[in-house]
This record gives sequence, C-alpha cells and structure tokens, in this order.
Amino acid sequence: MKSRIAALAAALIATAASAQAPKLKVGLMLPYSGTYAALGTAIENGFRLYLAEQGGRIAGREIEFSKVDDESEPAKAVDNVNKLIKRDNVDVLVGTVHSGVAMAMAKAAKDNGTLLIIPNAGAVAVTGPMCAENIFRSSFSNWQPGYAMGEVAAKRGARKVVTITWKYAAGDESVGGFKEAFEKSGGQVVKELSLPFPNVEFQPLLTEIAAIKPDAVYTFFAGGGAVKFVKDYAAAGLKNTIPLYGAGFLTDGTLEAQGADADGLLTTLHYGDGLDNAKDKTFRAAYAKAYGMPPDAYAVQGYDAAQMLAIGLNATKGDVSRKSDFAKAIVAAKIDSPRGVFTIGANHNPVQDMYLRQVLGKDNKVIGVASKSLADPGRGCKM
Ligand code: PHB
Repeated sequence: MKSRIAALAAALIATAASAQAPKLKVGLMLPYSGTYAALGTAIENGFRLYLAEQGGRIAGREIEFSKVDDESEPAKAVDNVNKLIKRDNVDVLVGTVHSGVAMAMAKAAKDNGTLLIIPNAGAVAVTGPMCAENIFRSSFSNWQPGYAMGEVAAKRGARKVVTITWKYAAGDESVGGFKEAFEKSGGQVVKELSLPFPNVEFQPLLTEIAAIKPDAVYTFFAGGGAVKFVKDYAAAGLKNTIPLYGAGFLTDGTLEAQGADADGLLTTLHYGDGLDNAKDKTFRAAYAKAYGMPPDAYAVQGYDAAQMLAIGLNATKGDVSRKSDFAKAIVAAKIDSPRGVFTIGANHNPVQDMYLRQVLGKDNKVIGVASKSLADPGRGCKM
C-alpha cells in the first residue's frame, strides 16, 4: 500500500513537473525566399511532422518556434542569427540551407554556446576545423555526394570530365569530393567552370562545354537554379551527347518543374524514391497526408533534425545545458531515418549510404548504393 502511494505521488510529481517545464524555444533560420525557398519549406515541414508525431512535445517540453527568413544571403547572416540568439533567446538553432550562411551560424553557435542542428548546408568546415560539441548536422557534407559520384563516373568509363557549379563553398566542395574520387580512379577533371551564386546565365558556359566535348559533366546546382540548369542543358542539345552527372540536389524537389528534360539523369544522394524500408513508407504516407505532396531529401533532413533533437533532449531530460551528455547520446544513436538507419560520426556529420538514383518520370528512383556507410573525413576536426 505504502509503495503504491509512493508510486502515485511520484507519477503526480512527474506530470506536474512536465506540465510546468518551460517551453523549449527553437529558432528556425531557413530560406523562405530566393532560389532555395522550396528547400527551406520542405525542411520545416519535415521538422514539424516529427514534432506532431510526438504530440508537440519533446522530453516533456512544448516547442515554441521563432522564425527568420535568411534569404540564403551570407551578408545578412550574422544579423539574422543574432535575432534568434540575442533577441529571442532561443534554446536551439535549426538552420540552414546555404553553406555561407551556415558558417556564420556555426561561428555564432560556437561563440554563444547555443545548440545548433544543421538540416542541410554541407559546408565541410562546420564538421571539420569548426566542429564543436554543440554543433550537429542531420544532412550531409558537400564532399559526400560528390565523392560517391566520382567513383560512379569512373566506373561508367568517363575519363575526361568538365565540372560546372556555383562559386561558393557548396559548389567548390562538391566538385572537390568528385575530383578526389574520380582522379583516384584514373579520371581527369579537365576544366572547372563556375558562376556566382545564385546566377543562372548558363549559356556561355554550356557553349564552352560543347566545344571541349568531355566524356561527361559533373555538377552541383540546387533549387530554382537546378531547374533552369537541367532545362538549359537539354535545350543546348547536350543531354543526348554528353552525360550529365550530379549531386542529387540537381533533381531533388525539382522534377515537377524540370519535366522530361530531367529524364534518365543519374545522381548520388543519401535519399531517393523507392527505398524499401518500413520507416520510409510510414514517413511518406504521413508527409503526403500532411502537406499534399511527396517528401524530398530536404524534408527527410528536417525530420531527422527533429529526431536528433529528441535523442539529445531525452538523454538530458530536456536540459540543453548538458551539452556533453546531449552529444554523447547523439553519437551513440542509431537514427531510424526514412533514408535508412544512419549514425553520427565523431565530427557530428552523418555516416550514411550514398544512393545512385536515376530520374524516372517524377521519381529519383534508387537503382543502387554508390558508397556504403560513407563518412565525411572530418579533416581538421578536433573535438
Ligand atoms: C549548401 O549551400 O551547402 C547547399 C545548398 C543547397 C543544397 C545542398 C547544399 O541542395
């Protein structure tokens, strides 16, 4: 009897404590305008879907959002992140898409000790020289899909390749990963073409590609820019003569707009359509029901950012100041993602399969695994 009363009292205290736990403030810093706008929305949708599945609470704490549109504009990044850290006093930062903006977020997170989960931006430095106990990524490093495609291109017999991308961290590092694997396998990158982000005047560069006549082209573009690039590549008459290989962003969340011009394209990414796992099936059905469209890789990254937050918070009973325990729980976890189970490496970047995908109608159909359990090298990271 005595122990039943004690148990009842403990349960009552626990309920009261969780009802009284202050709300957890999550600062969402994402692009809601510009070439990456759709990516920001998909990330937020995924994040909110996981939260809804938890009844709106993580570790007993209700979640309250502050939102900033970062416009994928590095020049405004410091001001924008300070709105969330200093003005809104958020407990956790979640963002962003653009690597240049993410670098400013990582610096601010480091300086202020604020927890940061990056649901897209692949800037290698963030899980390299800038790595920190309180900074995590739920997505990829820019190096990962590039490296995977470098091996694929070599296996498919390409010897001389031209690369084309936006001139900033994401493009440079994606090409860097490709080049590392491709040249290790005996290939040669004969020309690296680029234009400033987010420009889309591709024509002069496409003319150059036609003149060089490489065996293949490797590219990083994403969002609205990727839509235009794929259409321009086809319109220039290159699609049927020079194979176009890309980091998967080239065709992710873009197929509706690219139509037949994307048909057959080969890309590498950590997610795709037709994965045969139970988690993905449930996720896709729930996402389609909530948002009226199929999810893409960005939605998965948002969903998994929320899952990682929950893993850390559950381990620390909702206390974000217990940074070391928070990090230990995430690094020890097997994360049950729609992409397949993955882990987080010592540098806090996902260790994950890179799928080879081919565009078939409106799908990025997974046709194989290009690189199994691929980890970013984490060069320069000292935790
Ligand atoms: C990046 O800036 O790191 C970036 C942006 C969009 C993507 C992928 C990477 O789709």
